Amino acid sequence: MYQSIFKPGLFAGRTVLLTGGGSGIGRCTAHELAALGARVLLVGRDEAKLAAVQAEIAAAGGAAHSYSCNIRSEEAVRAMVVRAVAEHGPLHGLVNNAGGQFPAPLREISQKGWEAVLQTNLTGGFLLARECLEQSMAAHGGAIVNIVADMFGSMPNMGHSGAARAGMVSLTETAAFEWAQYGVRVNAVAPGYIASSGMDQYPPAMRDTIRAFPRTVPLHRFGTESEVAAAICFLLSEAAAFITGTTLRVDGGRPNVRPGMPMPRPQAPGATAAFNGFHLAATPRVLEDE
Ligand code: ADE
Repeated sequence: MYQSIFKPGLFAGRTVLLTGGGSGIGRCTAHELAALGARVLLVGRDEAKLAAVQAEIAAAGGAAHSYSCNIRSEEAVRAMVVRAVAEHGPLHGLVNNAGGQFPAPLREISQKGWEAVLQTNLTGGFLLARECLEQSMAAHGGAIVNIVADMFGSMPNMGHSGAARAGMVSLTETAAFEWAQYGVRVNAVAPGYIASSGMDQYPPAMRDTIRAFPRTVPLHRFGTESEVAAAICFLLSEAAAFITGTTLRVDGGRPNVRPGMPMPRPQAPGATAAFNGFHLAATPRVLEDE
């Protein structure tokens, strides 16, 4: 059953454009935003997935619309944002969540593969942010949240994605500076190991590695999609009115682990309890029989 930590109607009258809303963190965030009163514009390439999430949101009493768009194409992004503004009026929020990569060590990544990942995870987010600013937000303000990843320190077998996400953090900081004059705040959310459908895209050979991830996290567990959605909603909301240019890590403290230091075990009951605001995610297959 849905329970938001936020006040009902928090985003009433707001329109939020969200990329990659067809599954995982994006889908969960779309539900949370809609349940809080936002009109959610779902943007992605897979029309069937977007239509399914749109129908779920409508069935729950929320408002969602779908826009099919390849975010790697400057023209497609511009045309989509122009259409979204024509159909729904001012955009108040953008969640740059779409992403995609394939696991590979750096020495095996071709230029084509590298550029494809950079285009999806960095260029696409830039195009979306720039067009939302140009077509709408420069006139009345807004809030942008870029979803990156826990690439702090390194991102082995995901070097292309890590480089793109680090680029998004820098883009977040520069856009925050340049666009504050328009009342546009720009922040990032960096999820760590989150139990979400994305985990099932890794090859079976990585199953044991994935299952062992919580041992490297001070909070000793995977995060939930709704814990990431809550961070995104906070940064979109007025509660974050003085926060811009920051990257909010949602990772159970993973980057704070110091190699060689023993990992303290949880001592108190509930010390590592999860927040499941909007828990509609199926357990990733890789974790199912844990
Ligand atoms: N999600 C992953 N890749 C995408 C793309 N190129 N366009 C839109 N959504 C995407």
